Parts: sequence; structure tokens; C-alpha cells
Amino acid sequence: MTKNKTNLEDIVSLAKRRGFIYQGSEVYGGISGFYDYGPFGVSLKRNITNLWWRMFVDGRDDVFGIDAAIIMNPKVWKASGHVDTFTDPLVECNNCNSRFRADKIDISKCPNCSKLGTFGKAKMFNMMFKTNVGPIDSEDSIAYLRPETAQGIFTNYKNIVDTIYPDMPFGVAQIGKAFRNEISPRDFIFRVRELEQMEIEYFVHPDDWEKSFEKWRADIYEWFRALGLDEAKIHELDVPDSDRAHYSKRTIDFEYDFPIGKEELMGLAYRTDFDLLNIQKATGKSMEYIQKGSNNKFVPHVIEPSFGVERAMMAVLAEAYTEDEINGEKRIFLKLPTELAPVKFCVSPLLKNKPELVKKAREIYTILQKKYHNVMWDDNGNIGKRYRRQDEIGTPKCVVIDFDTLTDGTVTVRDRDTTKQKRLAVKDL
Ligand code: GAP
Repeated sequence: MTKNKTNLEDIVSLAKRRGFIYQGSEVYGGISGFYDYGPFGVSLKRNITNLWWRMFVDGRDDVFGIDAAIIMNPKVWKASGHVDTFTDPLVECNNCNSRFRADKIDISKCPNCSKLGTFGKAKMFNMMFKTNVGPIDSEDSIAYLRPETAQGIFTNYKNIVDTIYPDMPFGVAQIGKAFRNEISPRDFIFRVRELEQMEIEYFVHPDDWEKSFEKWRADIYEWFRALGLDEAKIHELDVPDSDRAHYSKRTIDFEYDFPIGKEELMGLAYRTDFDLLNIQKATGKSMEYIQKGSNNKFVPHVIEPSFGVERAMMAVLAEAYTEDEINGEKRIFLKLPTELAPVKFCVSPLLKNKPELVKKAREIYTILQKKYHNVMWDDNGNIGKRYRRQDEIGTPKCVVIDFDTLTDGTVTVRDRDTTKQKRLAVKDL
């Protein structure tokens, strides 16, 4: 029997048990909203970001990659509107002093101490992390950790135009960390304070924004398919005026049926010429694009597909998490797409204490390792335990070297999803 409904606790527990994700600074009691990635977590995360880069940057001739600094001139955040408007409403309970995001709770009753009517008026709280640049701690040296990677792209728009001479429309892509001092980080890696974004700012002629928006809206599904997500669990929400970010004229949130409910996985926004005009106004430098072969000049408009790495990872884990029963025993496995699996093959000798098996297994491990890179050697415990461990890591194939290998050159290959085993010649792996 296969279990379809995944609980968040199952994922958190597996992620910890198998070395995917740990609470940040756990040994010191943790720190809310920060997570560390273990060996298989970092691998899964890199496989996700590499897949994205291949699909949206290397796989296209109209998108160019950049990697901008996390700390930028603070004028960026003034001009972009983040200093004034990147805020969430904060309320404080006057009984237990707990603080909450006013739009995420029922403010008639404190979720911590359960007292009624303890909240005053909401205050707007700016979510940017502040720091000081240089040795003098003063108002003049204040800088911010970027709350979105997008501004690193807008500030380089002119550099790209002047050095790459792209045809219009074109996109600039970036993968990198962003920081938000969330009032209430929650639900494992769903809402964190240090996150990673994969963003594209796609520059278009103002007349073409709708066409481009619709094209991106369709292209995004290719990404969901590559992640192995069930399309029936994806829902589009056309965000109403009152809920949209200050820069957007239209936003579609792509929501996913996470174990915590239907929540935003990523967003697609029409940012108009808001950001480039702000830069133009603040710097006095022209952000106009001159149409090739004509004198037609315009400030491009922008379509922004914005993907969160943590949410992609959480969706992938939730989708892949499967429980079934093998010979009356519960089994947990991650049905990850092969491309995302942290380990592609696990190689082991049937018995650890037989040097001839270990030697042969090492030879086969080296061959596979050279070819596929993400190959794991596992000779811990008995073979049943190794299979369970690899199932939970999501390893698609386990290769076992036994005495027959020594005589006929074949190995046992066990499939993660069906648990079926077959014998294959090493050269056919
Ligand atoms: N540049 C546009 C932008 O940053 P956003 O909707 O604020 O838009 C984009 O964020 C994506 O980043 C979200 O759809 C989500 O996937 C991810 N994200 C935002 N805040 C997050 C947080 N606190 N924790 C985890 N992921 C987050």
C-alpha cells in the first residue's frame, strides 16, 4: 500500500536523519529561520540550481547569467522602494510580548499565550537586514543584505547592454542568496531568513509585455515537470491589486499543495519599467535601449519569473516522499527524478569481509564514479540496511557485487521504486 499524503514532520525527520537539512547552529540551540545543508542536501540543492541554469540560461540564447555582490550601494534600496515599502505589519502581544505578522494570525487572540484582545495597532516592520560597511559604525556606513537578487540584475542592465549588445527581448539571470528578517519564519525551509533565489529579469519592448508574460507563464511548467511535480498540485493565483508588491502591475503566484497546505512556490511578475526608471532618476544615467537598425529608443519593461530554491526543494521532497510496504514492513523512499537524485548509483560488495569482493566492487565503483560522478560507496551494515538507507536518500540504483561477479562479470542492480533486482554485465550499466 502506498501512502500519498505526506506530513511535514515526515520530511523534516527524513531530512535530518539522512543528512539533507539541519537546523542552523543546532549545536548552540539553533537560530530561527536559518538552515544548514548536509551532504545529500547540498547535492540536491545544487542539482536543482544546475538544472535551472541549464534550462533557462545555458539552454537559451536570449538569457545571460550574472553573479552580483550581495551587498550593494544602499542607494539601490532607496531607489527600488525597499527602504520605504519592504515591510510587513507587526503586532506585539502586551501580555507575553510575542511578536507576529498581523496578516498571518487571528489578531483577536494571541497564538502564544491565548489571551484575548492583547494586540495594539500593527506597526510596519522593514525586513531588510542592516549592516555597516567599513570600520566606522555610523548612519553613513549602513548597508543592507539584499532582500532579492533582482536588484543585482537591474543595476547591471546597462553593463549587459553595453558589453553583450543583446537583441530585444533578452533576459538576465542570477542565482544567489537573499536575506529577509521575516517576523515569523515557519514551516521548516518554507519561510526562512536566509534564502536562495533563482531570478530572471526579462527585458521587453513595452508593447510586448503581455505576449512575453504569457510565454513565461507556459515555460514555467517545463520547470515543474523537470522537478517531477504533479501538475494537478500546481495552482495559479492572479494576485489582486491590494496584495501585489509595490513594483508589480500583474503577478501570478504559482502555488503548490505543500504538506502545510496550498502555498506560494514561485512568482511571475510584470515589473513594468519601474526599476529601470528608478535607476535612471536616481543616477541620471539613461536606461534606454536603442533598437538595433533604427533610432527607436525606449526604456524596456520587465517580466520577472522568480523562483525560490528552498521552496523548490521542499516541493521536490514532498512530491518524492513515498511510503510503501515490502514483505509486510513499512518502507520509506524518495522517488526523486534521476537528474535530481544526490546519488545516482550506490555500489557495495555483498560481504564486507571478503577481500576479493571488496576489490572487485572498488573497481566497479571507480568506473561508475568516473562516468557518473555522484556514485556512493556503501559497505555499512547488511545489504537490507543499505537498501533502506539508499531508498531514503533517493538513490535510483544499487549495484551489488557478489561471488557470481567474480566468475561471470555480472552484478545485481536493484531498482529503488520497484525494489526489483536484475543481473547485468558491468559494461551494460
Ligand atoms: N524579486 C521578486 C521577489 O523577490 P518574492 O515573491 O518576494 O519576489 C520570490 O520572492 C520567491 O522567493 C518566492 O516565490 C519564494 O519562492 C521565495 N521566497 C521569498 N521569501 C522567502 C522566504 N522567506 N523563505 C523562503 N523562500 C522565500
